[in-house]
Amino acid sequence: MKHYLQFNDLAADEYAHLFARAAEIKRKFKAYEKYHPLADRTLAMIFEKASTRTRVSFEAGMYQLGGSVVHLTTEGSQLGRSEPIEDSAKVISRMVDLVMIRTFEQTKIEAFAANSRVPVINGLTNEFHPCQILADIFTFIEHRGDIKGKTVAWVGDGNNMANTWLQAAALLGFKVKVSTPSGYEIDPKLLGNLGITRHKSSAECYAFYSDPQKACEGADLVTTDVWTSMGFEAENEKRKAAFANWCVDARLMKAAKPEALFMHCLPAHRGEEVSAEVIDGPQSVVWDEAENRMHVQKALMEYLLLGKVA
Ligand code: CP
Ligand code: NVA
Repeated sequence: MKHYLQFNDLAADEYAHLFARAAEIKRKFKAYEKYHPLADRTLAMIFEKASTRTRVSFEAGMYQLGGSVVHLTTEGSQLGRSEPIEDSAKVISRMVDLVMIRTFEQTKIEAFAANSRVPVINGLTNEFHPCQILADIFTFIEHRGDIKGKTVAWVGDGNNMANTWLQAAALLGFKVKVSTPSGYEIDPKLLGNLGITRHKSSAECYAFYSDPQKACEGADLVTTDVWTSMGFEAENEKRKAAFANWCVDARLMKAAKPEALFMHCLPAHRGEEVSAEVIDGPQSVVWDEAENRMHVQKALMEYLLLGKVA
């Protein structure tokens, strides 16, 4: 049994399989072809934070695969009344086939997985957002081909998205040029966990720039995220001041390659981390990126429950 708690829980050959399956599953969906490999299977979705895309993509995706879903929130379940996560995992995993969790600390999803009889998927934690990067790389491949050897510019917070991009770079062989304001860097304690070790040196997959324009120079993809992630709302005003120069606008996009794509996991704040001109402009692929959450997650659920189907 495999869990998907962080990007490096799967190997490069498993990603090649998932990207191929996502393309085929997307083709079937567009052609209104019925595909019900998960008939009679149930997915439990546990949300301890808000969501639009993750909720809709997992729920619609599971129904399209012939299965069904149970939706739980902190407030609407005993999780909000201090039932231990370990006990919740033991109970929920006796009744369903698969669990997706969006929560706070990574240690919480790890505790759930350690007590689960069924595969657990990370639908976002403070540290990682692997399903989103799965969708982002699939979207890059659709538009530009293999991401190996390419350069991604990360502009903004050293958050769950940034951490996951670095993990993917170390695993799939591309480079991330990161620019964050001072005080909002990638947590150095995580670097080993991101796969950035002496064997995979920072020069191979990670470079840091204090100037966001330098990070964007020569990039094949420019990407950013909100300045204030869920759970950090109390820091909002302080962050707005610190991040003022980390807005992806036309000037930053001009520093990247002319054919560079722009991505944002959404929700976006136009005028903060990205200008309207960029997110609504011709280089932006944010709507494909959002739609692809569903196709890649269908491939992921198929893989976790059925293995490598042809
Ligand atoms: N990108 C993403 O995970 O969106 P939601 O917060 O709406 O699920
Ligand atoms: N970094 C953001 C992503 C939202 C999808 C957050 O954690 O809130």
